[in-house]
Amino acid sequence: MKPFSFVFFISTTIILELARAVFKSFSRYNLIMTADLYQKAFDNYGESPKALHWVNYASQAVRFKHLVSDLELEDKTILDAGCGMGDILPFIYARTERFDYLGIDTNEDFIAVAKKRYAGHSFKVGDPFFGNLRRRFEVVLCSGVMNENKPDWLNLRKRMIAHLFDAATETLAFNMAGAFHYIPPDAKIAYADAQAIYDYCRSLTSQVSIKTGYSPYDFTIVMQK
Ligand SMILES: C[S@@+](CC[C@H](N)C(=O)[O-])C[C@H]1O[C@@H](n2cnc3c(N)ncnc32)[C@H](O)[C@@H]1O
Repeated sequence: MKPFSFVFFISTTIILELARAVFKSFSRYNLIMTADLYQKAFDNYGESPKALHWVNYASQAVRFKHLVSDLELEDKTILDAGCGMGDILPFIYARTERFDYLGIDTNEDFIAVAKKRYAGHSFKVGDPFFGNLRRRFEVVLCSGVMNENKPDWLNLRKRMIAHLFDAATETLAFNMAGAFHYIPPDAKIAYADAQAIYDYCRSLTSQVSIKTGYSPYDFTIVMQK
């Protein structure tokens, strides 16, 4: 290798490694901020939907209902990414009693409540969005997680979608704060352009459906392999 090419190769490698390190610590910072917000909410509200940043049970439930209503769930392995207290389970049961569920969330208190509330189902503390899942699931569900207003939220959400879709062997269903019309962000929530998210999902698979109309501030996407 010529000296110039060697120097070019080394400096490019160093720059790329630096960029990766900065990105990793940025993602880590984002995660810590999110975890802190939910912990404070749990300390304030305890075993209530408010601890999960839901206004009330109805706003949590309507999202669950529309997330699972069109899915084939019988005999499936199901991952609930960012499961909170596992409260999607009754909505899965409304569709079928035969399924194999795992809920994962970073918050230990939420997972402890989920284990108590839905004994007999599997829950674990972890990060299914950025961590290594070690296995895949036929169906991946994600409700209420991709809503926060934080730096670079749009790219972050795209990375989360891609990671979850990799973890699914058949279906990823998620919901997100947003709409087809512009909604200004507030301090806590960033509302996505539903068309932009749909287009991104279409870049990952041709089988994408989108559901709106159950809330002026939320939409649901189902992606199939
Ligand atoms: C709005 S709550 C929704 C919880 C549950 N899906 C529900 O609808 O009741 C968002 C959840 O995502 C979890 N969460 C956020 N970022 C996460 C991450 N990177 N890994 C795992 N869980 C995460 C939070 O701890 C919180 O429980």
